[in-house]
Formats: sequence, C-alpha cells, structure tokens
Amino acid sequence: MNKKFDVIVIGAGPGGYVGAIRAAQLGKTVACIDAWKNSKGGPAPGGTCTNVGCIPSKALLQSSEHFDQASHHFADHGITVNGLAMDVAKMGARKDDVVKQNNNGILYLFKKNKISFFHGRASFVRANDDGYDILVTGENNETLTGRHIIVATGSNARALPGAPFDEQHILSNDGALRLQAVPKKLGLIGSGVIGLEMGTVWRRLGAKVTILEALPTFLSAVDVQIAAEAQKVFTKQGLAIELGVKVGQVTTSTEGVQVAYTNSEGHAQSLEVDKLIVSIGRVPNTDGLNPQAVGLALDERGAIVVDNECRTNLANVWAVGDVVRGPMLAHKAEEEGVVVAERIAGQQGHVNFNTIPWVIYTSPEMAWVGRTEQQLKADGVTYKAGTFPFLANGRARALGDTTGMVKMLADATSDEILGVHIIGPMASELIAECVVAMEFHASSEDIARICHAHPSLSESTKEAALAVDKRSLNS
Ligand code: FAD
Ligand code: NAI
Repeated sequence: MNKKFDVIVIGAGPGGYVGAIRAAQLGKTVACIDAWKNSKGGPAPGGTCTNVGCIPSKALLQSSEHFDQASHHFADHGITVNGLAMDVAKMGARKDDVVKQNNNGILYLFKKNKISFFHGRASFVRANDDGYDILVTGENNETLTGRHIIVATGSNARALPGAPFDEQHILSNDGALRLQAVPKKLGLIGSGVIGLEMGTVWRRLGAKVTILEALPTFLSAVDVQIAAEAQKVFTKQGLAIELGVKVGQVTTSTEGVQVAYTNSEGHAQSLEVDKLIVSIGRVPNTDGLNPQAVGLALDERGAIVVDNECRTNLANVWAVGDVVRGPMLAHKAEEEGVVVAERIAGQQGHVNFNTIPWVIYTSPEMAWVGRTEQQLKADGVTYKAGTFPFLANGRARALGDTTGMVKMLADATSDEILGVHIIGPMASELIAECVVAMEFHASSEDIARICHAHPSLSESTKEAALAVDKRSLNS
C-alpha cells in the first residue's frame, strides 16, 4: 500500500522546502523528496542555494572580504597586521560548516512541521484516482501517492559546447566553490552574477582574473549608469573584463586550460589559465523526473510550462523556482513555493514579479528593484531621476567605503517610484526599504518625508528621493 499525502514536493531547495513548510502550516500532510547527497552520502536538503549556490558563495565572499580588508584597508584605521596569510583549506572548511548548519536547519524544520522527508530521486510513475504515484529511488525504493505534486527540481549549470565540466580544470559553480588553492591565473566565461561574485572571491585572494563575456555591453540587464560605475570599479580592482568575445575551442592539459577566442575586433586570441570557471547561465533541471510518464509539458528550454500561479498543464501538478520561467533567484523560488501551498489550501497567494529584488554580492554590492532607466525609455514612460553618491554620506565616510550611489526613478506625473538602483556598501540591505516602498506604491516624496536614522547608509536612499525633486540636502 503506497503512503499517501495531500502534497508531495519534489526537491528541497528554497522553492521546495519553503513550499513544503507552508503547506504543512496550512494543515496538509506533506512529503518532500530530495536527492542531494553530502560528502558522506547523507541527505543535504537546501538545493543549489544551500549546497553550491547562495550560501557557500556568500561564505567565501565574506572570508575573502576580511582578507582584503586586512590586506589593504586596516592600515587606514591604524591597525598593523604582521604575517597575514590565507589558509584556503580552513576557509573552505568554514564554508562547508556553514552549509551543514543550513542543511541541518532544514531537516529540523521538516521535523518541527511534521513533513515526511525522503532522501532519493523522485520520478513520475502514473496518474490515478488519488492523484499521482511518485517513485522514490534511494536507499529504499518506494512509491508514494500525492493528491498535489509540487515540482521544485531547480537548475544545473550550462556547459560550453564541447567543453564539459570536469570540475578539475573546467569548473561549474560546484568546482568554483571547492578550489583547494588560489589559482595563479583564473579565467571565467560570462560576466554575469556568478562570474562577478566568484571572480571577486579569487581576485581578492590573489588570483589574476580574466573574464570573457560574449555580449558587447557589461551587465546589460542592470541600469546603465550603475553598470558603468561597476565596470569602472571592478576594472580598477584588477578584474580584466573583455566584452564582445566569441569563445572557441577550450583545451585542457596538466598545465591548465587554454581558451581560444575571437575578441571584439575580430582578432584570434588565446587565454591560458590554471582554472576556468564557466558561468554562462543555468538550465532548468528535470533529469530523472520522467515527466513524459504523465504528459507534463516542458518548453523548448526544458523548463516546465506554468501559468502565473505556477499551475502546469496537469491538474494538481504545480512547479516553482528555477525549473520554471522567471529569474533564477532563491527568494523568487521561495515566494512561488508559498503561493502554490496557499493556492492548494484554497487561498489566493501571488508573486509580484515587478518587485523582486536583485543583489550582486560583489564589493561594492549592487542591488536593484523595478525598472531601469533604459527600460523606462524603451517603454515610453516619462520619469524623473534622482541620484545621491555615498561620497556625501557620513556613515559611508566613517566606514571607509564611499564608492557608488543610490539612484531613484519615479514617474514624472504621479511621482510613484518605478525603480531603485544601488551600487555601494550594504546595497543588499538598503534595497529592502525600496522593495517595501514599491509594494506600497510609494512616491519618491513619501521616502523623502520619512525620518531616516543618522548616521546611516539609508540616508542616501532618502537623499536620492529628495534628488528626484532636485532638493537633495547633502550634495
Ligand atoms: P534548487 O535550489 O536547485 O533545488 C532543487 C533541489 O531538487 C536540489 O536539491 C536537487 O537535488 C533536487 N532534485 C532535482 N531533481 C530531483 C528529483 N528528480 N528527485 C529528487 N530531488 C531532485 N540566488 C539568490 O537569490 N541569491 C544568491 O545570492 C544566489 N547565489 C547563487 C550563487 C551560485 C553560485 C548559484 C549557482 C546560484 C545562486 N543563486 C542565488 C540562485 C539560487 O541558488 C537558485 O535560484 C535557487 O537555488 C533555486 O531554488 P529551487 O528550489 O528552484 O532549486
Ligand atoms: P548569468 O545569466 O547571470 O550570466 C551569464 C553571462 O554569460 C551573461 O552575461 C551572458 O551574456 C554570458 N554568456 C553566455 N554565453 C556565453 C558564451 N558562450 N561566452 C561568453 N559569455 C557568455 O548566469 P550565471 O552567472 O551563470 O548565473 C546563473 C544564475 O544564477 C543567475 O542568472 C542568477 O539567477 C543566479 N545567481 C544569483 C546570484 C545572486 O542573486 N546574487 C548569484 C549567483 C547566481
């Protein structure tokens, strides 16, 4: 007799585990199946985000930031450090420990919420009167039946054609987070989010980093003024970024990796590096899911086709996170998981795609929400822009980090905030106020009239709002 559940969630990444918890909170019997194995073969829930994504990358960014501060900035504060050294193995062990704490935290939450966790790979078997039969292949193979199925199987790194990941020389995000020593020369293909974050980690620790990017413009999805500032700062920090390249053959040897490419002027070039990280985007993952057994529709990219409410083409089968359309972000996956659980319980949850924040955890950080100046122009919207530089912010001066600015865009007629774009210290935290403002359809005047603590970086957001009305007080 199969075990029966109201809801079976496939995948325990941010989309799956959060959806499972919300469904359990709403009184459903819930199973969550996840295949990820830790180094000992045990369960490691949390998905890409916890194991080889958000969490370990931020741990390494933090360690390398400390090293960078001690190497270059402590002296400004009168602090002398003798014998400064970086123990990469210890940094990696700390990162692994942070990951483990998160894995264990999710297992604890499953227990607390009475969610049945199954460690193994799930595949569709058949639809029946009670819902869907799902086979779990793991230590013990068993078939479960779920009235509702939430597919949250995430994504995998996209490889360059003809250059599969070997995780020794040609690295995906997985290998990039497990380097045991600082490579002398590190190459990255793709100057997107992973390219910049991983490039920043290993550049700070002493690698000579070269990034090859296919597009002729740097960070084309980012507000043009913020992207220009970022390019200037990253180049000054020592990241060599070549735009408009066409990557050709990639060959590996015991010496390292050789990348043949054509530069933006059409000249044949070669890049020789010790390690190559390929970060050219990610592809939706339905490996082993057997969607054809039940006729689950995928699009030409391999993503599961869903509507605005994450419903697939099959009754009571839902899909969330990286395996469906939309930005591949952990918080987007989580919001979708919650929405689906609430819809299964008869509620009306929804995700507002216009207010999903983006953050790139480089130094300086970049964060934004809403539309960019170039998007507003393309959409024919008349707008006002206000910017405020951190150079004029007292807290930023005290921190010793005055790079960047806050830029606010508001509708020219109604003054409603249409986008906020930040490059600078703690941009990841500052953006939250802007998301709240946009969710509540605030005007720039609303932000300008709110009392912000002094001295704080958030005063720059208020000043950018004042600048929309050309009445900034401190610049
Ligand atoms: P995933 O996290 O990929 O989880 C899917 C889970 O399903 C996995 O555990 C997988 O093993 C399991 N699974 C798949 N198929 C099956 C099956 N058939 N049976 C059982 N289990 C299965 N996003 C941010 O918002 N902020 C960041 O700072 C950030 N940093 C990132 C850094 C890196 C290096 C990378 C690679 C990504 C980063 N992301 C970040 C993106 C984020 O990790 C993803 O958007 C997020 O993990 C997607 O969540 P998900 O639940 O859809 O899928
Ligand atoms: P990305 O989409 O951010 O960037 C990929 C880059 O590679 C693009 O600039 C693209 O033009 C370039 N590219 C594509 N094909 C190429 C080729 N053949 N040669 C050279 N350049 C090429 O993808 P990335 O960095 O792999 O990250 C994947 C996703 O993971 C991100 O889109 C994001 O959703 C998520 N992520 C989020 C983070 C965050 O929120 N801080 C951190 C890291 C990843």
